[in-house]
Amino acid sequence: MKKTFFAIILPIILIESICSQTIVKELLTENLIDPVGLDISIPRFTWILQNEKRGITQTAYEIEVESNDTFAWRSGRVLSDSSVLVAYKGLPLKSNTLYFWRVRVQDNRGYISDWSLPGSFRTGFLQPSDWKAQWITPTLEEDTVNRPSPYLRKTFQTKKEIRSAVLYATSHGMYEAYLNGRRVGDAHYTPGWTSYHKRLQYQAYDVTGLLQQNNTIAVMLASGWYRGTLGWSNKNNHYGRHIALLIQLEIEYTDGTRERVISDPSWRSSTGKIIYSEIYNGEKIDLRLEKEGWMFPEYDDSQWAYVKKTNFDTAKLVATYNEPVRQQEIFKPAAIFNTPKGEQIIDFGQNLAGWIRMKVKGKSGDMITLSHAEVLDKEGNFHTANLRAAKAQCTYILKDTNKVILHPHFTWHGFRYVKIEGYPGEIKPENFEAVALYSDMEPTGSFTSSHPLINRLQSNIKWGQKGNFLDIPTDCPQRDERLGWTGDIQVFVPTAVFNMRVHNFLTKWLRDLEADQLITGEVPNYIPDLGSNVNRAAWGDAATIVPWTLYKTYGDKRILHQQYGSMKAYVKSITNVTHDGLWDKGVTFGDWLAYSPEEGERKTPGTNKNIITQAYYANSLRIMMNTAKVLNIPDDEIYYTNLLEQAKKAFHTAFINEKGDLISPSQTAYSIALEFGMIPYHLEKQAAARLVELIDDFGHFTTGFLATSPLPHILLKYGYGDLAYKLLEREEYPSWLYPITMGATTFWERWNAIKPDGSFQTQKPQSNSFNHYAHGAVGDFLYRKVAGLDIAPDKDAVGYKHNLIKPFPGGSLKHARAILKTYYGTVGSSWKLDGKQMEMTVEVPVNTRATVYLPSTTPENITEGGKPVNTSTEINILGQEEDKYTVIQIGSGKYQFKIQRL
Ligand code: BGC
Repeated sequence: MKKTFFAIILPIILIESICSQTIVKELLTENLIDPVGLDISIPRFTWILQNEKRGITQTAYEIEVESNDTFAWRSGRVLSDSSVLVAYKGLPLKSNTLYFWRVRVQDNRGYISDWSLPGSFRTGFLQPSDWKAQWITPTLEEDTVNRPSPYLRKTFQTKKEIRSAVLYATSHGMYEAYLNGRRVGDAHYTPGWTSYHKRLQYQAYDVTGLLQQNNTIAVMLASGWYRGTLGWSNKNNHYGRHIALLIQLEIEYTDGTRERVISDPSWRSSTGKIIYSEIYNGEKIDLRLEKEGWMFPEYDDSQWAYVKKTNFDTAKLVATYNEPVRQQEIFKPAAIFNTPKGEQIIDFGQNLAGWIRMKVKGKSGDMITLSHAEVLDKEGNFHTANLRAAKAQCTYILKDTNKVILHPHFTWHGFRYVKIEGYPGEIKPENFEAVALYSDMEPTGSFTSSHPLINRLQSNIKWGQKGNFLDIPTDCPQRDERLGWTGDIQVFVPTAVFNMRVHNFLTKWLRDLEADQLITGEVPNYIPDLGSNVNRAAWGDAATIVPWTLYKTYGDKRILHQQYGSMKAYVKSITNVTHDGLWDKGVTFGDWLAYSPEEGERKTPGTNKNIITQAYYANSLRIMMNTAKVLNIPDDEIYYTNLLEQAKKAFHTAFINEKGDLISPSQTAYSIALEFGMIPYHLEKQAAARLVELIDDFGHFTTGFLATSPLPHILLKYGYGDLAYKLLEREEYPSWLYPITMGATTFWERWNAIKPDGSFQTQKPQSNSFNHYAHGAVGDFLYRKVAGLDIAPDKDAVGYKHNLIKPFPGGSLKHARAILKTYYGTVGSSWKLDGKQMEMTVEVPVNTRATVYLPSTTPENITEGGKPVNTSTEINILGQEEDKYTVIQIGSGKYQFKIQRL
């Protein structure tokens, strides 16, 4: 980049300032590192400031964006503390163009940083007319039962020295593309799952290094989500019967001339080794049928079939916004053994979503079958009944005696155990590995404590997220379902945002939610929709809860702008059917999969379903009121404020009796009503006391997907911290830790998926997933309350601009620690108890501040870095609160507090 200088340059940089220079690093464009293929006309920039000194903030920034040695934007010096999601304001961006940008900042001490190292982004196609390629589909006579994977290929020459080459690709079905035998990119299951008829994502790959003079583009296609079997009634062809491909390769030579290679009727097609491929059922690969050399230019394809043109509106093509699915962790066998039935099994020690990579050497015709399962049954045999119709099997037929490495391409399984049949020779651990596959989101959070089972709980929660964040947020990764259930994600999203950066992943999914919403605003129960029912209370509310959570976590106002129409339409679809503010015609799955006693066990009190529907409706109204405020739409803010008041009144009239209690004396009812502020203030304490009685009465929670995760938060809020920790540390069924005592490595769909005697629950044996993340929603309690890492409540705090550090030590825990990588940098909160002393370590990123609650009302009892806290100029004591805390305000930096507690 060219060197320019800050409009106002400080003349002398002192030696001292060099040591404490603010460094600008980790540039993100639209939340990604150097993305290729953005179709957003106003991308946003984020950078992290680093400085070991305390109390550093940004006071100004300067950004330069250039392309081909020409400036597209020079912001000049902008007086601002914004370093997150700063919108581009330069010349209109051009399609398929590489841009570089850099930034420097001035900090609150007046020092100017060096320019950052450049970040980059490449635009995709900004107008539909940029697409010159034609959709093509194979003309092969198709085996309509097995639907083998078609191969498509095209050979071409390049003429001069290449400066850059970008391949744009998408398909109906899934594709894997190769250039001269080398895989293009490392994404799997492309183009991902969207509401295909309305939005189809394309991918862009920089393939400059893959091109030579003679080239072949080779593509394998598979049915995928587009036309494969999906849903639980064995239906296929949800989006169409025919798979198809669209490819456009844009080459730029060093002399500035350009060339384009596109999919068109000159391509040829055939089939090869993949003779069957379905998401649920698995893949069958017959190596004897492979067309050797078909990915290379020398291959003779004269016998291959032609392809024909098909049509699809290019206006519906959108660039990929979320991170691709990539291969992630690899697990070696933890144990290899035979079951009582004589099955040969490998245990990989972790329930995950992905596939097996296997090395094998045999002879032509040898057939090896790998079946996948999450659990063994009580007797120790391989258990697949809970996969329902999903066969989850991969079969390989060998061609010769060469050693080969095999894995499937267009399927994945939810598994921990693999049953191996037909493997030639001994099953040795070095020949097998389990590969986890999921969307490649940045891991952002970690939580650890002195409690080994709670640490395992955190690990299980993360693995639930990994196993189910595979291009869309699914309910489970193993059975014939794997759908984007709205209720599950709205419950889990507060936890998900801690573990990984789910910003783009869920932004993309919300676009599909809007696309699949009915014209009347109703929200299908899962997204992308295959024709499900709509507007189940607490499920449809994903339309409001998910964008609002993304806004709060990432400080992203644009997501609210984008989703506002969708959010409004959903809420309107409910308001339209309310009577005097009451949603009494609402349908809901209720507190799904609440503790449900088996024969002979004590029954739990039921919950009037309208308590749930009304509380969720009111919650969505509150989100609308707050969103209208953020977006500065006063009329809407007033409108939703009034509706919320009306909805709350209707709740009081309908569900609170003359004694001030809820008409349904259930934990679910109290949890949800308190969580969503449905109880009049003067009755809140009474309601909390009722909730406590109900928990004490059973000795455990009796709640499900919706009402369980709010419980510990509510208990803390109303002064029942001991009970919150009792629930958290409970190991007997039902509890969060019970599955762990039974060997679980992910969260179960049901509290009693495996009963204490080792047998499976019998209430609904066919719905017994061992990898459902919804109950893992307790994760947000671990981060926000146990470790005490949160966002302050003021409106400017969003995105962790203002952190709240307020841990709640309790139970048998001796220490806990959470860290979170925000767009500003790493926030950290940890505490340790040592007799009457408590140590707290707090890390606050540059350009942010934190309000910290120190558990002593006597500042004299608190030191920071060994010095009394009240003598520090870097610590601002705000006062005492709740008869318990000294509250302080600090700027960026690392702080070590010691508190003598009485
Ligand atoms: C899914 C759930 C989902 C539910 C709604 C189930 O089959 O697995 O997680 O929320 O249906 O009824």
